[in-house]
Amino acid sequence: MVEVDQAFIQAAEHRPKLDTIEIEGIPLIDLSLSDTRDIKLLVSEIGNACKNWGFFQVINHGVPLQFFTQINIAAKTFFDRPIEEKTKVKRDEVNSTGYHESEHTKNVRDWKEVFDFVLKDPSFLPASHEPEDKQLKALRNRWPENPPEFREVCQEYAREAEKLCYKLLELIALSLGLPSNRFHGYFDDHTALMRLNHYPPCPCPELALGVGRHKDAGALTIVAQDDVGGLQVKRKSDGVWVPVKPTPNALVINVGDTIQVWSNEAYESVEHRVVVNSERERFSFPVFFFPSHYVMVKPLEELVNEQNPAKYKEYNFGKFFAARTRGDYKKLELENIQIRDFKII
Ligand code: OGA
Ligand code: NI
Repeated sequence: MVEVDQAFIQAAEHRPKLDTIEIEGIPLIDLSLSDTRDIKLLVSEIGNACKNWGFFQVINHGVPLQFFTQINIAAKTFFDRPIEEKTKVKRDEVNSTGYHESEHTKNVRDWKEVFDFVLKDPSFLPASHEPEDKQLKALRNRWPENPPEFREVCQEYAREAEKLCYKLLELIALSLGLPSNRFHGYFDDHTALMRLNHYPPCPCPELALGVGRHKDAGALTIVAQDDVGGLQVKRKSDGVWVPVKPTPNALVINVGDTIQVWSNEAYESVEHRVVVNSERERFSFPVFFFPSHYVMVKPLEELVNEQNPAKYKEYNFGKFFAARTRGDYKKLELENIQIRDFKII
């Protein structure tokens, strides 16, 4: 019997079944256009994937493929360094960039270690979740000395991922019948974050999770994953946890809470989690595309009318995000804030 810290142990109803069979389902979308694939077809595929799954994978996304190999190597080299070296760039409650090894999702510890950096350095967020506190804090990146190319590899990848975020936002806007640049203004001072995730082999994969079930708070998330697998999505039709099959050269995309609210629930942010295994370590690299902190998020006026009234009250993105991430460091007595707290109907 292996001794594992109780903080990692999921409640019985959230423990994963590890014998999951391969289920087809999550759409794979080719972003390239040709004589036989026009923009209308692409936009309808994106719209259907957002509506039916909230998750899809894309190929021909424009991110140069050698960047995937480079980031995998850089991440492995960094996470293999001694803990004393990694904690030199440790994240803390004031500045959430850098290395972190004890993140909690819904008050249970995740079986992973992470390195976070912001795409815009510095990025600005509210200093606290308290509505009256108008102070901002600057998030500045901290970079490790090793490996020496780490910073450049991360930033090069992130620049390409950012371009893809804008392209996907355009396709999503078109799929909702909006002008392609409808969302762009919300990202002028975006607070996008990239995370390197390392999930070490786990002695009790049936009791713990790499990341507990959660929804992403931002607009979009783009994830590059290696070939190990472990990401699972809660299928909208029946609540079954469906694995996202690692697909060579593909990126995983999911819609976050912000798009759920903007679209007045035409597209929902779907719950997902990461299962770990006892044999292989896994790496994944999400880019969370968050709006500017001052954006007031609410259902878009073009998408609401008398038959389809707004389902949410407006909320300030930065304050929501500050409240939401309070539980990353310590166990909270209460569950974190969720967009359902702003629900009208
Ligand atoms: C996340 C997440 C998925 C993965 O970090 O929010 O869902 O595959 N990660 O690591
Ligand atoms: Ni996630």
